[in-house]
Order: sequence, then structure tokens, then C-alpha cells
Amino acid sequence: MTTTDAALRQKVAERIRNYEHLVKKDVYRQHFHLMPPVGLLNDPNGLIEWNGVYHVFYQWQPFKTGHGAKFWGHYTSTDLVNWQHEEIALTPSDWFDRNGCYSGSAVIDDGKMYLLYTGNVRDEQGNRETYQCLAVSEDGIHFQKKGVVATLPEGFTAHFRDPKVWKRNGQWYMVLGAQSQDLKGHLVLFTADKLDNWTFQGIAAGNGKNGLEDFGYMWECPDLFELDSRDILIVSPQGLKPQGMKYHNTHQSGYFVGTLDETSYQYTHGAFEELDRGFDFYAQQTFVDESGRRILIGWMGVPDQGEEHHPTISYQWIHCLTIPRELRLDQEGKLIQKPVSELKKMRTIEQEHVYQIKRSVHSIPVDDITSAEVFIDQIETQKGFECCIRGVARFIYDKDKGKLTLERDRFENRLKEIREAEIEELKDLHFFIDASSIEIFVNGGREVFTARFFPSPGNKSFSISGRNETKLRLRTWRLQKEAGR
Ligand code: FRU
Repeated sequence: MTTTDAALRQKVAERIRNYEHLVKKDVYRQHFHLMPPVGLLNDPNGLIEWNGVYHVFYQWQPFKTGHGAKFWGHYTSTDLVNWQHEEIALTPSDWFDRNGCYSGSAVIDDGKMYLLYTGNVRDEQGNRETYQCLAVSEDGIHFQKKGVVATLPEGFTAHFRDPKVWKRNGQWYMVLGAQSQDLKGHLVLFTADKLDNWTFQGIAAGNGKNGLEDFGYMWECPDLFELDSRDILIVSPQGLKPQGMKYHNTHQSGYFVGTLDETSYQYTHGAFEELDRGFDFYAQQTFVDESGRRILIGWMGVPDQGEEHHPTISYQWIHCLTIPRELRLDQEGKLIQKPVSELKKMRTIEQEHVYQIKRSVHSIPVDDITSAEVFIDQIETQKGFECCIRGVARFIYDKDKGKLTLERDRFENRLKEIREAEIEELKDLHFFIDASSIEIFVNGGREVFTARFFPSPGNKSFSISGRNETKLRLRTWRLQKEAGR
């Protein structure tokens, strides 16, 4: 460990100690979502299961609630429910990553864990440089940096980052998000026989290919993987303009279904679909766990999207990750996201009711709405209904218009803002409600709405009102992790 590395680690430890007390006092601290101990968290990184242990690394700026020179924070778990915060995996302490150990991924090779990440560097004039870097670990906790393994090819700006690595048929592949000199976003691909020896294979997808025109000025955090016999590309493009109900967040996240040609390294694909219909979802990553499931975790935030208005900033922390979601592809090529089944372990007090609702508002007794799961099914409704959660989030099903709407109070001024999605018929709704977030899975995960919200601490209500006759079954659980964790 270099002296800069050691000094940075010590500074972070002090910062955690100094602010622990304040951070813990925040009523908006989450109960079952991963958060930074202090400072800012953004992308999930290096998701992997190794010898029965799940690892979630994350982009971490411990010294302030804004972005900057990122560290890799680290959580581990054996059950995807109870997490332990580990020591820092990577610090921005070397010439090739001194302005940030940016996003990347983890793989296992020869019994060791390897991290591939982007070293972000600014020169004296503030110009950006980018390096793809490697680090290795024998125990999955302590990492040794191996330095730069790929540099910036011709034709691209220094917005060239976020390596996602995998092995197929004995060959290593690495995709990155990139910006060409004419300021267009792309997916680029490298191959290797060894993790420290990469060959640039060019642009695999992006602006100007597969019928994509004007599809953003930068693509961030790509992830290309096989699922149910197709190759899925998940990516976060920046610079898409709103289109009907789509693309209303500052930056977008979505997926393509297609095929990666392993000789030409071209990825051909269909239309781009949004992954999430809510307000706060970005830079997601996936991995296959040891039982073969493809699991996704996202950042429950969006860069440049009113981050300065989050009230948690007064308590010196900001942002969290989503719950882990298992992915499947349905027969029409739609990506389905389901909360992983392990989360059921958190269920405690269960209540079940069948409601007959007219226009009146029904108050639902939820044991502790600050950490709860609500499942609604057996829906029979003439015109639709709406759920109001803690006075600041409304989820509305308009059956006549075939539309779902999530409405919430803006963080800065309590005016309303909405996100919408079309729906043919609503069959079920699955809410995961934490102290300051809500994730709503619609029709078994065919649509998801993810959002932070900051209700008045005293408001613990969950209510349903009908637009006309509505009958539905509602089950609720209080969610609790093991004591002391
Ligand atoms: C996405 C992103 C990545 C980058 C990281 C830096 O949110 O901008 O492209 O690697 O965050 O923290």
C-alpha cells in the first residue's frame, strides 16, 4: 500500500467516525437499501458472487455530498439481505486514477478476484484523461492495483469508461461506454486472452448503427450479457430528448435485445426500451450468481437531477442502491424484473384484506410503512384506482386511458411531478417501501417505477381510493432484517 493510499484510508475512517452520529439521526436513512456510511454513493460496481459471498462495490465520494474523486466502497453478504460494510476496495491514489476510481466490474480468474475499472485523471489544465485499470485480490477484500491495461484509442474523447468484463468460449470481452470525436455515444469492445492484455475491436453499437440516429452524446455503464438465449445490452445514454411518456429523467437507462457477433464484434439489436419508469434509476449493473440467476442492482439516483435538493444532505449523506432484482426475458422480448426471493426473509407481521372500494378513501393498516412490502392482486375495477403513500407519492391506474402514473412532490418546492407508462391491464402491484424510497413492480415486474421520496416523518399513511367500483386483495408485511445488522 502506498503512503497516499494509506493516508486517504485514514482520512475516510476519520470522516466516518466524525459523522456517524449525525448520519444515523436522519429519519430518511433506509432500512433495507445500501447507502454510503457518509458522503455520496452513485453507481453499483463489481457485482459478483464468489464462494457463496455476494460483493457489491459502489462509487463513493466520502468527503462530501457531491461528486468528485471516487473511491470503491464495498459491501458483502451471504443472503442479499444482510450486508456488511467492508474496508475500502480502491482509493484514488495513483497517477492513473488520482481523480477517481470510476465504475467497472469484477471477474474471477484462476482463483482470484479481479476488478477492471476506469482511472479518471485531470491534468493541470483540467483536461480529462482516461485509463482502464486492473486490480487483483486473493481474498475478495484486499486489492492490489496492477495499473493500466488499456488506453484510449484514436477517434474518441476521454469520455471512455465503465468496463464490463466477461468470458465466453475461452475469450475475455470488455465493453465500455464511449464518446466519439463528433460527440456521439457508442458501445466499444475489447477482447483479451489475459486480463492485462486487451485488443481494441472498435465500435460494436451506438449512434449511426442499427438505425440509431441522434441517440445521445455519451453512453455510460454498458453491460452486455446473455439471457434466455439472447444478448441483452443494458446502457445509460445521456442526451435523449423526451418522447411522449419516455425519457423524462435528466439521463436515461434502458436495454436492447440483440445478438453479438463473435467474429465481427458487431452487436445488432432492436428498439431501445426504458428499464424503469420512475424518477430515480441509473447506471445499473448485472451479474450471474452461483445459482445461475441474472441479478440487477441500480443506482437509485440520476446524475445532475436535482441532487442538491435531497434533504439527506443536511445529514452528510446522499443516495442509495435499488433492491436486487432477478431478470428474465419474456417471449415478446421484454425484460422482466422481479425482487429476488431472498427479500421474503425480511417479512414479519403479515396482514391480508379484501377491499371493496367506491369513491371513498380507504386507509390501509400497514404495520410500519417506513419499511414495508405491499402486494395487491385479484384486481377487479371499472375505471381504475389510486394508492397514496405517506401523502407525497400517488400511484394512479387509469383503466380508460390504459395508463399508470407515479406522481410525487418535488424535493425543492412540493409542486407535483409525474412519470407515466402505458398498461393494457393491471393484474398486480408490488410495492417495496423504505424510509425514503419506493419501488413499484407492475404485473410481475413487466414495468417498474423507482423513486426516492421524503415524506413528513409523522405521515405514516397508505390509502387507496377508487374511481368507481373496485375490488382487490391487499397483503402487507413489515420488513425487518436480522437484529444488529
Ligand atoms: C455514471 C458515471 C460513470 C462513471 C461514474 C463516476 O453515473 O458517470 O460513467 O464511471 O459515474 O462516478
